[in-house]
Formats: sequence, C-alpha cells, structure tokens
Amino acid sequence: VFSARAGPRGSLNALAVARARRLAAGLPLLDLTQTNPTQVGLSAPLAPLTVPEAYTPEPLGAWSAREALAAHVGLDPARLLLCASTSEAFSWLFTLLADAGDEVLVPHPGYPLFDDLARLAQVTPRPFALDFDGQRFGLEPELLRRAATPRTRALVLVSPANPTGQRLTEVELHAAAEVCARHGWALILDEVFRDPELHGLPSRASLPCLTFTLGGLSKSCGLPQLKLSWVSVSGPGAAEALERLEHLADTFLPVNTPVMHALPGLLEAGRDFRGRLRARLSRNDAALRASWRPGEAWQVLPREAGWLACLRVPEQPQEEARCLALLDAGVAVQPGYFFDFPRGAWLVVSLLPEPQVLDAALEALRRGAVDELR
Ligand SMILES: Cc1ncc(COP(=O)(O)O)c(C=O)c1O
Repeated sequence: VFSARAGPRGSLNALAVARARRLAAGLPLLDLTQTNPTQVGLSAPLAPLTVPEAYTPEPLGAWSAREALAAHVGLDPARLLLCASTSEAFSWLFTLLADAGDEVLVPHPGYPLFDDLARLAQVTPRPFALDFDGQRFGLEPELLRRAATPRTRALVLVSPANPTGQRLTEVELHAAAEVCARHGWALILDEVFRDPELHGLPSRASLPCLTFTLGGLSKSCGLPQLKLSWVSVSGPGAAEALERLEHLADTFLPVNTPVMHALPGLLEAGRDFRGRLRARLSRNDAALRASWRPGEAWQVLPREAGWLACLRVPEQPQEEARCLALLDAGVAVQPGYFFDFPRGAWLVVSLLPEPQVLDAALEALRRGAVDELR
C-alpha cells in the first residue's frame, strides 16, 4: 500500500545502536554531535507571540514580514518567499525545477538530508565532489560538468558549507553561475549558516542564472522551534519562478501568522544570538586546535565559518571503529561517511556544545584521533 519513495526509516546503524545502549544504561555522554542551538545555553528568553484572531492567507508570506526580512538581509521584499523550514524550501524548489527522474547536483562532502529531500521529490541527487587541496574544499567547475547529465536541472551549493565550513569565493560563485547559465540549470544557494555581521549581505543581482538563495531563523537566529525560513529569487526567469512558487505555496500555506508578526523583533534579537554564537564557536575551535600535539597524525581542517570542525585522521582504524571507541570512552562524534567525504578518514565535531562539555571530551577525542583508545 505504500509508495517506494516513502520507505521505512531502515535499521539503526552500529553507532546509533551503541549510543542508545549507552544512554539506556544511564552512562554519561559528552555529545559532540549536538547542533541544536536551543540545547547549548545560547538561547535568550522569547517574548510570547501574539495570536491574531483574523487570518489573511498570503502565499508568499505576510508582506510586513517580508519587508522586515528584506531590510535585515538586504534583499528585495517582492522577491522573497517565506516557508516553514529550509528543508521545505528545498522540497518546493525540487518540485518547481525538476520532473520525476530529473537530477540535481549536490556537493560531496555535504549535508546528508539533500539526498532524502531530492528522492522524496522524485528527483535523483547526483553528487559532485568538492575539490580538496589539503586545506580547503573548493569548487571546481570542471567537476560540476563531469557530474552533470542531460537530465541535470539544478545545482545545489552551500555557503558556508556543512560540514566543511568553507565560504564560496566570489570567483567560485560566479564560475558556478556561468556553468548554470550555459546549461540552463537553476542555482540553489543554501546560506543558512551565513553570518551577516561577519560575511556581509548577499548581493545576487549580477549572477547570470536563475538563483534561489535560502536562509532561515533556525540557524541565523538560533530559533529552529519557530519554523520560519525564506527563499530569495533572482536572475533571469525570477518573476515566473516566483509566480509558480506562489502557486505551490498557496497549496500548503505552512507559515504561522504569529511568527510572521513577531519577525522584526526576532531578527533584531538574532544579532545578540550571533554574538554569543561567534564567541562560542571561536572559543571551542581554539580549544580543539590546542589539543593537538606536535607530530600527531591528525589535523583539524582550517575553519572559515559554520558550526562544525572536521578532523582528518589516519585511515586505519576506520571511521566507524574510531567513533565506537570514542563512544565507549563517553564521547559522541560523527564519522565522515555520514557526509560522504570522497577521500580520507574524517571525524566531524560540533563546536556548539558548552565549553565544559567540549573541554571534558578533548583528551578522549585526541586519543581517539591518534588511536590510543583501543
Ligand atoms: C546546510 C543545511 N541546509 C539546510 C538545513 C535545514 O535547515 P532548516 O532547519 O531551516 O530546515 C540544515 C540543517 O542543519 C543544513 O545544515
């Protein structure tokens, strides 16, 4: 009775089983996979939201909210669409741009949910490798062309990237947009980890292809519980894309009115959140790097932005064995294969946890990275 694409969740992997066992036994866990900003002492109290009695459906989102957002993110309110989450935005964009069996290019290493989001939209995710020079995962247009097929409809780029943290340079962005324009692909630019105070405001006016830029409250203001994200549409074909998206959005109308009304205040409070977040990330990043001892064969990838640190470790023992040994030592980290690193062995560590959690985990993490835990 069920469709093939809405398959069951599948069985838990060895790491999830070991973690669940540890927690069920009441053993402590220093969780360096924690990326929920509401669980790490960075949140401030929220004012209660006002619930208006009357409801006026506006498929692109309340105009007042789009204006407030436009002022904050430097985008055109008429070209903004609100939705409940960035994941929802992806699902709508895949539906807008691709028919069943068409393909979208997604970066590897990258955020694993893209594959599920594409498949649910009956679109095939086709990975392209980011180009690793030993320090940074960059964008190489030739690798895009190699991964593409006649069924490619869109390119997904993430900046700052998850998990590797690099920001696209202007040269990389324009080169990718040129490839998109030449092949008639749309560009979906996921900027959920963009920090406007550090990275400036986006300027998309000059890209030569249809471009969708995505952001949301969950990462930029640390408010995943409020469920509000946005898409800015620009480039050739933007007006028609927006009209079609409006129709799509009208079918669901997922954004609640109280959060749209509260948006100006929430965006303002976001500045303070990002201040606390920046301090946390740079403090934890420095502590992690300081745990490396000269001569050890592991490396913390230089970090440009984002919430994660990527540790390159020797290929033996394998990532999963290292993560299991770390779990036994009471520390949870993610293996690189969750993110499809094309080469090498990697551990991915969240820099979001409270400093005392990270500090308590550092010695075990170092021993796990040099294989002294077994
Ligand atoms: C790169 C990237 N894009 C999108 C999302 C989803 O964000 P949202 O909470 O807005 O659905 C995440 C969540 O971690 C992410 O890492």
